[in-house]
Amino acid sequence: MRLALRWLASIAIFCLILYHVSPRTAIDLDDIPISPVDKSAAPDPAPDAKPLLEEERPRGSPRPSDIGAFWKKWSQAMYDARPRVFAISIKGQATTLPPNTDGPRKPYRDLVRNPEADLELMRKAHAKFVEELENIRADEGIFKGRGVVMVGGGEYFGPAIISIHMLRRTGSTLPVEVFVPNDEEYEVDVCEGYLPKLNAKCVVLAHVLSQSDAELGISHYQLKAPSLLFSSFEEVLLLDSDSIPVVDPDEAVFSQEPYLSDGLIVWPDYWAATESPQFWTIAGFPDFPSGLPATSSETGQLVVNKKTHLAPLLLATYYNVFGKEHYYPLLSQGALGQGDKETFMAAAVVLNTTYYRVKTSVASLGRHDGFKQKATAMVQHLPYDDQAGGPDKKVTVRPAFLHSNTPKMNAGHLVDEGDLLGVDGSTRLRLLGSKAEQEKHFGFDVESSIWDLLIQTGCELADIIKEWKHRDRLCERLEEHHDQLFGEHRSGMGQVWEQKRANLRTQ
Ligand SMILES: *[C@@H]1O[C@H](CO)[C@@H](O)[C@H](O)[C@H]1NC(C)=O
Repeated sequence: MRLALRWLASIAIFCLILYHVSPRTAIDLDDIPISPVDKSAAPDPAPDAKPLLEEERPRGSPRPSDIGAFWKKWSQAMYDARPRVFAISIKGQATTLPPNTDGPRKPYRDLVRNPEADLELMRKAHAKFVEELENIRADEGIFKGRGVVMVGGGEYFGPAIISIHMLRRTGSTLPVEVFVPNDEEYEVDVCEGYLPKLNAKCVVLAHVLSQSDAELGISHYQLKAPSLLFSSFEEVLLLDSDSIPVVDPDEAVFSQEPYLSDGLIVWPDYWAATESPQFWTIAGFPDFPSGLPATSSETGQLVVNKKTHLAPLLLATYYNVFGKEHYYPLLSQGALGQGDKETFMAAAVVLNTTYYRVKTSVASLGRHDGFKQKATAMVQHLPYDDQAGGPDKKVTVRPAFLHSNTPKMNAGHLVDEGDLLGVDGSTRLRLLGSKAEQEKHFGFDVESSIWDLLIQTGCELADIIKEWKHRDRLCERLEEHHDQLFGEHRSGMGQVWEQKRANLRTQ
């Protein structure tokens, strides 16, 4: 009894805190009115009116008549099937450890503290949404072609631009859509002046989200699933702004097995999966599913065909929309990196659709700063080789993506935040291993290639990307690093661009 009281009291205090921190999350979910969203921030392209002409459409809007209507319908379905439970509460935190088995996944300890009744309410809501997904056929045909989707804006523009340039260096001509959260992050000079030269453009996510009447409160780190969903492409490679392709994705992934048969490709993380077994109960499974990989997943890159896999993508979006309070804790139980990472594969398993999970372990590249070894990047492998090969068959499984996340390839941050220097403050560090190692892994010195682009884009955009504008001598400092590390002398790009910018200013 005392325990129960203390439990209640802590819930009450928790609610109070939440109410003050974030009023939106503290509302009793049963009473949420279906309120119109605040549309003052984003111009409303009137969903029911005739489609706007190109020149009438707000900057960065996709075709409002179809994708907007699509979201209006599915966001309502998500809202109607919202989990009517305050939040999932986790006891402690799952640990991030490498899996201790080569075999299939074993259930992790259940850390969920909610009563049975909560889980039953969530199961009902989940079943309602899955039932709704049976009506999906009518939505086919609004997406077209193959392309790449990234989430950009603010500090993510810099690395995204490096990744897009590297994509072009693989020979790929796939169009790119860079999703930015809202109008404030739509930088005209970047979105209209620079990206179109790379066959890339910005799309403002808020313009699609505002087509919905349901208040779902989607925030920044939940944007990947909606971006995938709202991109105009039918076949999509989702890339984090810091994930760099080292093969032509069109030729090496989209045009090959296992993509052609399976339609959804997911890559592994280092760590063992830690979802609560209760997740599977909520999803309507009688038992823990067999045959899942022991590791969790990593969404620095993801490939999906929306023609065959729109239902799992919508279900993954449902898990993300109700991620923060419900499905993220269920799927990771507080483990490091909790977020959208497990939602895509979970949705495919739940709906029993095909998917391919790359088996080759993610490799790690790092640097030694004179004091300790630090991880820099994750290397993810080519699904085609992965399926054909594997350790026993002696096929070399080639790398496909370099997820360079610590640090990200943001020219401004690189020169200002000390990651390029050893602890002595003067030794210049290679971030991705020696030249010989990189040539062995990738067939070329990938870091040198990235540095060409860091200088080129850092110098050209030093006064253009908002986040770089007030950094001192960005271009020159990039060149200094390059010259000292790679030992070649650059041909004074800094001066060339300084002159160009001076000319622009005087015009
Ligand atoms: C899942 O799909 C496979 C292959 O299509 C089928 O054999 C199996 O019965 C399905 N499982 C369930 C639970 O529906």
